[in-house]
Amino acid sequence: MENQVESLQQRLRQQEKLASLGMLSAGIAHEIQNPLNFVINFSKMSSKLLSDLTDIVADNEDALPADDREELDDIVGDLKENMARIVEHGERAISIIQGILLVSRGKDNEFLPTDISHLVKEYVWLSYHAMRANYKGFNISIGEDYEQGLPQVMVIPQDLSRAVLNLMNNACYTVWHKQQHTGPDYQPRIDIRVAQTSEQGLQTLDHRPQTFITVTIADNGEGMTPEVKERLYENFFTTKPIGEGTGLGMAITRDIIENKHGGKLSFETEEGKGTTFTFTIPAKKG
Ligand SMILES: Nc1ncnc2c1ncn2[C@@H]1O[C@H](COP(=O)(O)OP(=O)(O)OP(=O)(O)O)[C@@H](O)[C@H]1O
Ligand SMILES: [Mg+2]
Repeated sequence: MENQVESLQQRLRQQEKLASLGMLSAGIAHEIQNPLNFVINFSKMSSKLLSDLTDIVADNEDALPADDREELDDIVGDLKENMARIVEHGERAISIIQGILLVSRGKDNEFLPTDISHLVKEYVWLSYHAMRANYKGFNISIGEDYEQGLPQVMVIPQDLSRAVLNLMNNACYTVWHKQQHTGPDYQPRIDIRVAQTSEQGLQTLDHRPQTFITVTIADNGEGMTPEVKERLYENFFTTKPIGEGTGLGMAITRDIIENKHGGKLSFETEEGKGTTFTFTIPAKKG
């Protein structure tokens, strides 16, 4: 009991650390935005002043020797170009910062028209590369099947990407873990599928059949024991060593799919054979 409390406390401290890191970077991003805006605005103002200067010089063209006039034109031209560069790169920096703010603080609960296949693909590979960076010798096959011509649907992209990331991280972890204690015959594999489905029995109020987008992530990893199946969605339930799992992933994933998107998350699993997670969300068009 004491051990359990200790390990839970350790996990909580870890979560808190991560959360405060996120807040810190959001704070920094926010603070940098102001001086950056000054840089951009003063550069724009200086460009305007340079134009005024050019006009004055043009009005007094005869007062300057031809050589000086030419040199002046060159200098003014260069200065204008420099100002434009400062504005351009300043604006790029602003957009990077806004990206950080969006990710860390999040435009909470904003539904946006989204290409689900694109989002899934992006986070599947993000997870894959993160695993490769963190686990030596991680090498798996990934099968991808994205139905062509799917419509954009309204989802909260930030949340949905977290859900995909957690499912994919879990799948990667189990195939990697299995590989550590099986022979060379084992070929770790994860299959991804995104398709449009129309679910029988589920109809909208006007009795038109509703369409759904179904995402499947299937691994040939370790599968789940009855205990894991039972406790999968419990907060802080994890079978991973400290530092590798907080046990919050599935709870958050289910909340995102079912509560936030009105969808359904389900799984099939067989011990030693693997697990398939499927989630289905209503295809509300944007
Ligand atoms: N695809 C899978 N195959 C086998 N077991 C799984 C799979 N996905 C989840 N599990 C089991 O469910 C547990 C809980 O998963 P969950 O994602 O909630 O937490 P976690 O992955 O341990 O930690 P994190 O909070 O970092 O996601 C895992 O520790 C693992 O035992
Ligand atoms: Mg997880």
